[in-house]
Amino acid sequence: MCGIVGYTGKRDAKEIILNGLYRLEYRGYDSAGISLYNQQTKRYELYKDAGRVDHLARIVEDVPYSNSGIGHTRWATHGKVNQLNAHPHMSKNNRFTIVHNGVIENYKNLRDTYLQDHRFSSETDTEVIVALIDYFSHTMPVKEAITTTLKRLQGSYALLILDQEEPSKMYAAKHKSPLLIGRGKDDYVVASDLMAMVGVCDAFIALEDETFVVIEAQKIILYNLDHQPQSLQFQTLDYTDELADKGAHPHYMIKEIMEQPIIIRRILEKYFSEEKLALDPALIKEIKASERIYILAAGTSMHAGYVAKTMIETIVRMPVEVHIASEFAYHPPVLSKKPFFMLISQSGETADLVACLKKIKALNAKTCTVTNVKTSTLAREADFTLEIYAGPEIAVASTKAYTAQIAVLVLLAYALSGKETWDIRYEYSKLSQAMESFLEHYEEMHQITKQTFTKFHAFYIGRGVDYYVGLEAALKLKEISYIHTEGYAAGELKHGTIALIEDQTPVIALITTKEVALNTRSNLHEVASRGANTLTIVTESLKEVGDTVVLPDVHPYLTPILTVLPTQLFAYYAALERGLDIDKPRNLAKSVTVE
Ligand code: M6R
Repeated sequence: MCGIVGYTGKRDAKEIILNGLYRLEYRGYDSAGISLYNQQTKRYELYKDAGRVDHLARIVEDVPYSNSGIGHTRWATHGKVNQLNAHPHMSKNNRFTIVHNGVIENYKNLRDTYLQDHRFSSETDTEVIVALIDYFSHTMPVKEAITTTLKRLQGSYALLILDQEEPSKMYAAKHKSPLLIGRGKDDYVVASDLMAMVGVCDAFIALEDETFVVIEAQKIILYNLDHQPQSLQFQTLDYTDELADKGAHPHYMIKEIMEQPIIIRRILEKYFSEEKLALDPALIKEIKASERIYILAAGTSMHAGYVAKTMIETIVRMPVEVHIASEFAYHPPVLSKKPFFMLISQSGETADLVACLKKIKALNAKTCTVTNVKTSTLAREADFTLEIYAGPEIAVASTKAYTAQIAVLVLLAYALSGKETWDIRYEYSKLSQAMESFLEHYEEMHQITKQTFTKFHAFYIGRGVDYYVGLEAALKLKEISYIHTEGYAAGELKHGTIALIEDQTPVIALITTKEVALNTRSNLHEVASRGANTLTIVTESLKEVGDTVVLPDVHPYLTPILTVLPTQLFAYYAALERGLDIDKPRNLAKSVTVE
């Protein structure tokens, strides 16, 4: 989703900002822009357009050295994808320039209250912010004009603000949208994502809601919205630069699929100390003291949540409910008396979950974030964090985060059960090896994909945990290949949806559970007799002649981590066959920071 990068210091602002924007490309965007200080004209000059950062880089190719500027990648929320709606936005008199992440919910109301005579150049909510700052600046000092504006905004924002009259100053503010300040040797980077400052800064702070900073030369001051200075505590930035290249792989997605066996081993290393599973005892105590776990998540993370529900309920015999975050935030169910909340989020920034967390905090219930980004908003604000150690996930389609989330949550279930009835270290190693041996032959999935996904509809079916894996398999296929795919409970298909089966509609059955293997096979026969092109993904012990993909047997609690691999590859190759932008599928954002 939208990305912000600002720089002020002595180095080449254009280069640092563009590099930062390139690093944020993985979040998904449709337009890019930059405002750079021109040392000759002594003004900030604006460059922006719809399209990729590459396009912006060409536009500013001949722009001379600048030591300060702000950049943005926009993911459209208000208004079309075009040059006028791209950020930065300027006030009408060209005095103020801003970039904005988030959504201003009351922008129409603000427009009607304060800016009736204002002629807007764009359709964005952002332009209202810059127009308001300008409006208030006529009657008060700039700092006050900014906070007066901020106090009137409803919704979410991360903002960088420049003032042509004091070009050496940069203002940054945030509410419900992440914004971080990075400190270099003698310079600062302000960005919505840590990735944008890796290699430039060695320390950073994540701004709190309703605070703002003023950066000028070497000085940085943090204020609350009442202008009282706040203390600033930078922490070391020790992020490894794993995203630097795709290695030998043509796309991040395939690189990330291939990394999964190593991540399983990494998770073991991180969570085992002296041969013992070392999960925070306070977390275990809190969950055990609760009556019911509520898992809140979105998209792929929610699908990991469904698998985790099955495993926790089976291993711990404790009830678990999974809820779509955007639904839970505004339509919560009747809760048990002692609930415990698990928020699963790769990015740790998903706005729907941030909204849930706010509501949960009001209930005084305990929370744990399961995330890949330990510095994220959800990690900072929950009572506990379980890191999944998947390393930066750049492809918009989540793969390694999904399997890492399940791997960590099964460890949690194991710790909660307190019964060491299976050798978990051995089973995880076995899983990792099984994943590796399957992935060695990954190209075989290419051939199957070519023969299978020739239609614009497809189905994954399964029962129990296989159904949940099918949901994820379907999401993966549709989000990057644009083939309409449903994940369906195998037994439910015949209650209506079977009407969609046509000649050669691909139906892939996931069969890894002995108790229901034959039932799922019967459901597959039902669609085959109606013309479907049927395939199977099965485990070795359940295989029959004619099965399509046979996976090694691993511990049943870990099987979903293996079963999903062929489906990730099907999605990858289906997108490849269609010549699509695999790492940055249309309309999608990596980190969904608006509700
Ligand atoms: O960062 P999160 O895990 O909170 O993101 C949730 C979803 O937006 C995300 O899983 C999305 O569904 C992915 N594109 C799936 O590949």
